[in-house]
Amino acid sequence: MSEKTFGKTLSRRSFLKESSAAAVGVAGISVIGAPAILSGQNVNSRINLGFLGTGSRACEMLTAISGQTEKLVTDLCDIYPPHLAEAVKLCGNTKVRTYEHWEKVLEQKDVDAVVVATPLFLHVPMSVAGLEAGKHVLSEKSMGLNMKHLNQMLAAVQSHPDKVYLVGYQGRLAESLKMVKDLVAEGSLGRITQFYVHFDRNQSWKRDDLPAEWERVLNWRLYKEYCGGLLTEVVTHEIDAVREVLGIMPVNASFYGKVQIYKDGRDSHDSIVGAWEMEDGVLGVGTAHLSNASNGSGWKLLGTHGTVESNGGTVKIYWEKEARHLDSVGIQHKFTTIKLGQSLKESENPNNTPAKVITFEIDNDYDLSTAREFRHFYDCILNGTKPVMDATSCRDTSIAAFMAYASTLEGGRQVSRAEVEAAG
Ligand SMILES: NC(=O)c1ccc[n+]([C@@H]2O[C@H](COP(=O)([O-])OP(=O)(O)OC[C@H]3O[C@@H](n4cnc5c(N)ncnc54)[C@H](O)[C@@H]3O)[C@@H](O)[C@H]2O)c1
Repeated sequence: MSEKTFGKTLSRRSFLKESSAAAVGVAGISVIGAPAILSGQNVNSRINLGFLGTGSRACEMLTAISGQTEKLVTDLCDIYPPHLAEAVKLCGNTKVRTYEHWEKVLEQKDVDAVVVATPLFLHVPMSVAGLEAGKHVLSEKSMGLNMKHLNQMLAAVQSHPDKVYLVGYQGRLAESLKMVKDLVAEGSLGRITQFYVHFDRNQSWKRDDLPAEWERVLNWRLYKEYCGGLLTEVVTHEIDAVREVLGIMPVNASFYGKVQIYKDGRDSHDSIVGAWEMEDGVLGVGTAHLSNASNGSGWKLLGTHGTVESNGGTVKIYWEKEARHLDSVGIQHKFTTIKLGQSLKESENPNNTPAKVITFEIDNDYDLSTAREFRHFYDCILNGTKPVMDATSCRDTSIAAFMAYASTLEGGRQVSRAEVEAAG
């Protein structure tokens, strides 16, 4: 186990304080420069990939991209030998190079791009080093552990405009999300006043029966030192989707967190609940827990004319029975046509058709959506284009999560965006 990477402890009240060392926030880039792959590192048009961290997500990725001929997995690195061995089996390259030390992967001249799939606290150190070593980087979500990390990452991305940096919010590429974005932009749901993001599971999140020296390494999600628990690990996907649709940021957050069920030594909460006050007067509720799976995971937008609910790739749209506000909005969309001044009640009687249910198979399939994420990464590398999950917008999603997380660490105190950003 690496002492360098698994060491320092972040105390309960020190989240904001710990994040206050450096301020290097800068604007994101809009166009990526010439891809390295075309400028010489690898003269083939194939992308050589190295993986930093080969735990469960990396193994899912290796399975999902196994049929992609655009890439070759040349290098794998993990400090836990069983995970490395599993990845070797899945990577599809009998000559794959393996390492314990991630820096070795970056030293390989023929590696074009690296995938960072380690615990959150390592994302930024590895991603920054990756860019500095001349590699394109696909980092798992979320972006970083604290504001200092986010600012370091953004600065590194800006200093390497010829490299692609993409954060693994694969949900942003979903067909369903694009449809909802259109519906909202066209005014189909009226004015959005509230949203609800949630992650509900009934599982401990703990890997049991580990030798003591591996407990914190492999149960990193349970400790503040390594991540922000439910908010940075899972609710972040749902926050990201809502932010992508609405294009707004929180102004304030008040959240509570508790270890309610799993009193096994963890210091990350197994239950959180709270609210964000957003720009444009929108209010949003966030909940997550590890003790009840009935709601699944997803998000919901509530507008004056209707509601849209998303779980995986399935979207449900409900119209309000009493909406009478359409004198100023005419709406035409492939799933709804409403004329100026027309009541939604007449065209979409909720008693007859309680919800429109639209399922997008590709979004529902974890492997397919992961494969799509990698294709987007390759496209950006080969065409020199900006990823949909770019540094600036992914930094904003992290800030929204940090605001809620910081509040949970201080018993629900209202935490402002300005305060969190100033801590960087
Ligand atoms: N986008 C998604 O849908 C999705 C889904 C699951 C996980 N994730 C993200 O993927 C990342 C990894 O999650 P996971 O479930 O695979 O966790 P995991 O614990 O299964 O894997 C992490 C791996 O990193 C290794 N590691 C730790 N320190 C290392 C170091 N210094 N050098 C090399 N390897 C090191 C560990 O040994 C482990 O094998 C997390 O950031 C998580 O949030 C994303």
